[in-house]
Amino acid sequence: MAGDQAHHPPPNRRAGVNRRSLLAGGLLVGTGAAAGVATDRMISGSTTNAATRADTEPFWGAHQSGVITDTQRHVVLASFDFTTTERADVTEILKRWTALGAALASGQSVQVPLYQGTGQPADAYAAATARATPSDSLDAWQLGPQRLTLTVGFGPGMFTKDGRDRFGIADKRPRQLVDLPRFPGEQIDETVSGGDLFLQACADDPQVAFHAVRSLARIAPDVVTLRWTQLGFSPANTGGTPRNLMGFKDGTANSNAHPPADLDSTVWAGAEGPDWMRGGTYLVYRRIRISLEHWDRLQVAQQERVIGRQKVSGAPLGSAHEFDAKDFNAKDTQGNMVIPADSHVRLAAPENNNGAVMVRRAFSYNNGTTPFTERWPPWRQALEYDAGLLFLAYQKDPRASFITVNQRLALNDALNQFTTHTATGIYAIPPGARGDGDWIGRTLFS
Ligand code: HEM
Repeated sequence: MAGDQAHHPPPNRRAGVNRRSLLAGGLLVGTGAAAGVATDRMISGSTTNAATRADTEPFWGAHQSGVITDTQRHVVLASFDFTTTERADVTEILKRWTALGAALASGQSVQVPLYQGTGQPADAYAAATARATPSDSLDAWQLGPQRLTLTVGFGPGMFTKDGRDRFGIADKRPRQLVDLPRFPGEQIDETVSGGDLFLQACADDPQVAFHAVRSLARIAPDVVTLRWTQLGFSPANTGGTPRNLMGFKDGTANSNAHPPADLDSTVWAGAEGPDWMRGGTYLVYRRIRISLEHWDRLQVAQQERVIGRQKVSGAPLGSAHEFDAKDFNAKDTQGNMVIPADSHVRLAAPENNNGAVMVRRAFSYNNGTTPFTERWPPWRQALEYDAGLLFLAYQKDPRASFITVNQRLALNDALNQFTTHTATGIYAIPPGARGDGDWIGRTLFS
């Protein structure tokens, strides 16, 4: 345990800690049950975990990781709401998230720096669990860092909730962090959308990603409560652009795999917004269900006309190779556009949207099967896959990028016959924490 503490100060060594969290942290040294002590001996052994450069992504830096980082195999998205109205609780939780996040990203086992909040316990259960163990749950023990990245974001509710400026930062809300408009055809489930505090945990091992979310969520479950989670996956890296569930390469253009040349003018926030966001970015999340049953019935040539690219090679229609330029003027012998007027890539491409660029970092998801009511009447209403795309796009200004592009797509994209947006979120992703003692959100709250 001593070795572990050297890396992760328990709550009673951290500044600004209150009496109730002292009690929780003191459980091990005070009334420490035999089982707890044994667990801590085990944990201290695991800190020798062999992390290599190849399986560790940097946690500290000017920008948060998980934005342009090469896509990992697994993602767990988690969104939280604050039940507290105390600014001190928010800053304390962000400090603890940062310290624990850094430890997790380096593959260490952790003591969870529990925090009870400054107010009264929310209910009898919260009061009874004040003496919870801070021990690592051990479900990711000895698995290594697995390229874990943790990306933290602030939803609009962090700034104003139900018209109230809960934390005294309403005037710091960036203009770029708009409330997303409603788009034609969407069927948004609010219970799995939005949230005050957002977390994207990505790793090459599913249990490492989930363990990270679970450990951060344990810090103060009665002060910042889980709103929703969503799992996603990306195929093994075969050296090329990964394919989505439609079978098409996804990420050829405007993605973290092939990002725009100048990230400062397209992705990272700069002088156009508030100082506290400099080096940050804005994330738009959409969970988009794909009607795979119907898609799988469509002839491949028709599928290619929907996307505007060839299925196997990923080349734009009319070209031979994946990375060939798209010729939007080319016509076939009958005078039809080779890349159809309603194809996805024509409508989404920056050259047709006033240069709107975004870094897409998509994952697929599979939530099993659900009885769906299809929005296209000729199609059978039946038990269908709830599977599709977790669309995650990072950009400097969602008004100029995601909203501009999606307004066009929602009206005219041939892909709409097969896709429905069912969950949504927009988050300000603040700049990274620079090193030990710094914390994500410091620029906003200090
Ligand atoms: C289930 C929904 C979606 C699927 C299956 C999908 C799939 C694809 C595919 C296969 C490509 C071509 C390969 C590539 O360039 O990566 C592509 C390109 C692209 N998509 Fe999507 N997409 C979806 C939703 C969206 C949404 C909602 C947006 C933005 C509002 C979007 C923006 C883009 C952009 C910007 C490109 C690159 C266009 C270019 O510059 O060539 N996509 N998408």
